Amino acid sequence: MTTIIDAAPDDDELGVPAARRRSAELERQIHERPGRFRVLTGDRPTGRLHLGHYFGTLHNRVRLQNLGVDVMVLVADYQVLTDRDVADRLAEHVEDLVLDYLAVGIDPDRATIFTHSAVPALNQLLLPFLSLVSVAELGRNPTVKDEIAHSRQSAVSGLMFTYPVHQAADILFCKAGLVPVGQDQLPHLEVARTVARRFNSRYGPVFPEPEALLSAAPLLLGTDGGKMSKSRGNAIALAATADETARMIRGAKTDADRHITYDPVARPEVSSLVLLAALCLGRDPHEVAGEIGGRGAAALKAVVTDAVNDHFAPIRARRAELARDRAHIRQVLRDGNEWANAIADDTLKEVREAMKALY
Ligand code: TRP
Repeated sequence: MTTIIDAAPDDDELGVPAARRRSAELERQIHERPGRFRVLTGDRPTGRLHLGHYFGTLHNRVRLQNLGVDVMVLVADYQVLTDRDVADRLAEHVEDLVLDYLAVGIDPDRATIFTHSAVPALNQLLLPFLSLVSVAELGRNPTVKDEIAHSRQSAVSGLMFTYPVHQAADILFCKAGLVPVGQDQLPHLEVARTVARRFNSRYGPVFPEPEALLSAAPLLLGTDGGKMSKSRGNAIALAATADETARMIRGAKTDADRHITYDPVARPEVSSLVLLAALCLGRDPHEVAGEIGGRGAAALKAVVTDAVNDHFAPIRARRAELARDRAHIRQVLRDGNEWANAIADDTLKEVREAMKALY
């Protein structure tokens, strides 16, 4: 029997440069044989997704799906309870999330969209998994520490403290080999890898060790220059109208220098606006900034507004059309949940076999 060693995570494994190099190699393999890979990603249903989500992850999921990768998309409806006491308007938020997914091009005929709460066997994996990590390890997780600091809970719940292990179950139940993540989620992936390793060495080989696929997308700031976030009111929703978009961009923070340049370190707010336009236009941000030059922030904002509204017009139109057919959205979830349950039931059976707990 293995003992749980309470060691600090290997720096090299957590190191961002190493993860980047590995991700480049994985990308090469994906292009060679996309059908070999299963990817698991997900979001908490806390409201509509925004442009940061789109350029950060959604776009990438659609790209992977279109390459032929098996993409599983989790609506993490239990995880919502990590940073709030009650899951307000949950059903509405779940449907909004599914609408956003479908609008950007996640195709339920090729990808699987499912919810935590409808897949009991996934959640049952949490119990043996929790036995494989120490309380000290959980307490050291930097992402959890940060989230606890920003939590809207009156007290830190056990679910908040243990959610990286729940997330390990999300990833391992379907034996996903790849998890597209931003840098801040690397510690969570490390938990999933640790759980897989420890389970395998204690009970026998069941789980592959998932790997991070670091997204190359540059970081978009919110319109106030802070981290873009639904709850901070500084994010442009994917589903925003053209007018709402214009209003938010008009109110965005800039700086005193009239000459527009792209310099994310020295001029984060202006550069984030330039970047947003460049991403929508599929162009180089330095070029976009150069063309605006001395015409100032107002001209920059006009360019950004047009770029966003043009790029998202078809997505927004599709979303509005899909929103008229709620029965279809619910059917997409029912189908996704059915498939996720079939996978989870198989994995749980293997786990119970390995643990000699099949009676
Ligand atoms: N933590 C993710 C978020 O906050 C959602 C999520 C839940 C997830 N389980 C996951 C992401 C597993 C990747 C893998 O949006």
